[in-house]
Amino acid sequence: MEEFIYGGDYNPDQWLDEPQVLEDDIRMMKKAHINEVSLGIFSWALLEPEEGRFEFDWLADIIHKLYENGIYTILATPSGARPRWLAKKYPEVLRTYEDGKKAKFGGRHNHCLTSPAYREKVRIIDAKLAECFKDDPAVIGWHISNEFSGECYCSHCQDEFRKFLKRKFGSIEKLNHEWWTTFWSHTYTSFDEIEPPSSIGENETNGLIIDWRRFATYACTDFIKNEIEAIRSAGAKQPVTTNMMYEFGGYDYAEFAKVIDTMSWDSYPEWGIAESDGKAALEHGLYHDMMRSFKDKPFLLMESCPSGTNWQSVSRLKRPGLLKLAGIHAVSHGADSVQYFQIRQGRGSSEKFHGAVIDHTGRDDTRVFKEVTETGALLKEIAEIKGAVGDAKVAIINDTQNKWALENSQGPRNCNEGYYETVHKIYEALKINAVDVDVIEESHSFDGYKILIAPMLYSLHDGAEKRIREFVENGGILISTYLCGVVNENDLCYMGDIPYDMTDVLGVRTEEIDALCDGMKNSLLPVEGASMRLQETDCEKMCELISLKGAECLMTYGSDFYKGSPALTVNQFGKGKAYYIASEPDREFYVGFLGRIIKEAGVVKLMESLPEECDIASRVKGGKRYVFIENFGREDKEVKLPEVADMLYGDTSSKLPATDAKIYSIKA
Ligand code: GLA
Ligand code: ZN
Repeated sequence: MEEFIYGGDYNPDQWLDEPQVLEDDIRMMKKAHINEVSLGIFSWALLEPEEGRFEFDWLADIIHKLYENGIYTILATPSGARPRWLAKKYPEVLRTYEDGKKAKFGGRHNHCLTSPAYREKVRIIDAKLAECFKDDPAVIGWHISNEFSGECYCSHCQDEFRKFLKRKFGSIEKLNHEWWTTFWSHTYTSFDEIEPPSSIGENETNGLIIDWRRFATYACTDFIKNEIEAIRSAGAKQPVTTNMMYEFGGYDYAEFAKVIDTMSWDSYPEWGIAESDGKAALEHGLYHDMMRSFKDKPFLLMESCPSGTNWQSVSRLKRPGLLKLAGIHAVSHGADSVQYFQIRQGRGSSEKFHGAVIDHTGRDDTRVFKEVTETGALLKEIAEIKGAVGDAKVAIINDTQNKWALENSQGPRNCNEGYYETVHKIYEALKINAVDVDVIEESHSFDGYKILIAPMLYSLHDGAEKRIREFVENGGILISTYLCGVVNENDLCYMGDIPYDMTDVLGVRTEEIDALCDGMKNSLLPVEGASMRLQETDCEKMCELISLKGAECLMTYGSDFYKGSPALTVNQFGKGKAYYIASEPDREFYVGFLGRIIKEAGVVKLMESLPEECDIASRVKGGKRYVFIENFGREDKEVKLPEVADMLYGDTSSKLPATDAKIYSIKA
């Protein structure tokens, strides 16, 4: 499709006995410029009402009616929720919980992901659907299942976990070593003895906990692969995706990225609830950037809410303008679609009050409908941007496996290790400096970046330390913070000097780490005559005591018994430089510090400085850079546009109205 995909989850299966509804919906969707629907996500009971009896005619009929009206379909595989007959006949498909309790039929997203029976039933229906729609021009993609989540503790999953560990470690001796099981006499004598982590059993062996999460990721990725193979073996060639969730730490999405064609995710910021809408936008902007960075390709915004949700603790309406602004925001960070949950509100059950393009009134003159229409018109006008990619020169590592390791490290601060907060703070400081940012995993390539930021890189995997070394050696600027290079991928501490294998790169060595209680502060003071004069700042959370091994000290601690000792350093290594920040300075410090580094590295800013509550991002295509600025605040802001800019949306004045945006292109 040339244009941006514009549409979302549509559930006409709930209205089969009222054919007029489909007619009305098509008329209204056309009016709103909707060109896509995601269909069949929860339709299994209708598609296969009894085992082996498939009824796809109603679906084909809907797909074709939509297509005749210019609306394409992203077709779901229905594995997100199963029909009753399936659970009744094959109870093994139902999940077993951590306490050993078996789920009853109900809910969704709660199957055993390794169950051979479930995989087989899913494979059959997926293949049937693919046979039916593989050559259908109306079907432009496959939506595998829905928002995968969770773990199952059934005996089959446990067996698969043991096999997974056997493949990983080879021998039980190696596993015992990596998990350090001699501690408390927890040695395993064979793989058969291994059980998943449990609050009434083994719950402190971090190696086990992390590997259980890796296994859950593996089981789910393998489930996805099973679905993709079913579709592909039936001859379907359309791209596949699966929709991911905000801050879902249950699986490592980097593994999903390896098996699907396009990343997609569901973004539900807490508009009107979070500290400010600017903050909510930043948080979701970070996630948009992460989705783009996984594959360095545009992603799909698979779901977003047209107004209030039904599940946030308090469901606030989107104030006027915010619907369009949130769509522009996703596109600015690399989305090639704006999709909603849901096109039409259902009449009953739990999501009947969830915001929708078409609500229970069935009218096309509601406030929400009008905004959906306006947004659709805008996306048409800016269609030339579709497919444009990011070219960020700054990357920040936000690594899921590292987060897992940190969460149960049982280290200096157990109240909140604060990984996400630190990543977020640095990301925010980068955005205030108006640069594009890639948000990457440790395993992502570091090539092409000028600045690499590695906050709290506690657990090293995928040879990160070697690739960081090469990055700096070849001229990159590294910014690393405290808790760097402490353990391997199994949470086994590195012996000798840390940051592991990087003390020469960073020119420092970690000696001790002091944790501060919430509210406690130390400070960082600039060193007289240092090569970089930095602004004094408070710092909190953790204070690492480091000694110099060749680095220059730029700042020292301002108080406590380590007053005067190094706290921020820089080291020349190869053609590059490596900074080490031994504590947690505040956001303002990062804004200034990163501003200096950005300048030094010659990274081009999209604007001199960005007003509060605003976001800026760009995408490039065909020699053009498309720049998007959004104002999530409730007051107008002043922005400085470049002298030569082709406006695609908004005017050339310096006024950026509240809850509005500007989009323009400049030469790339
Ligand atoms: C998720 C699901 C949808 C729907 C929405 C409601 O994103 O994927 O099926 O439940 O939440 O916000
Ligand atoms: Zn299971």
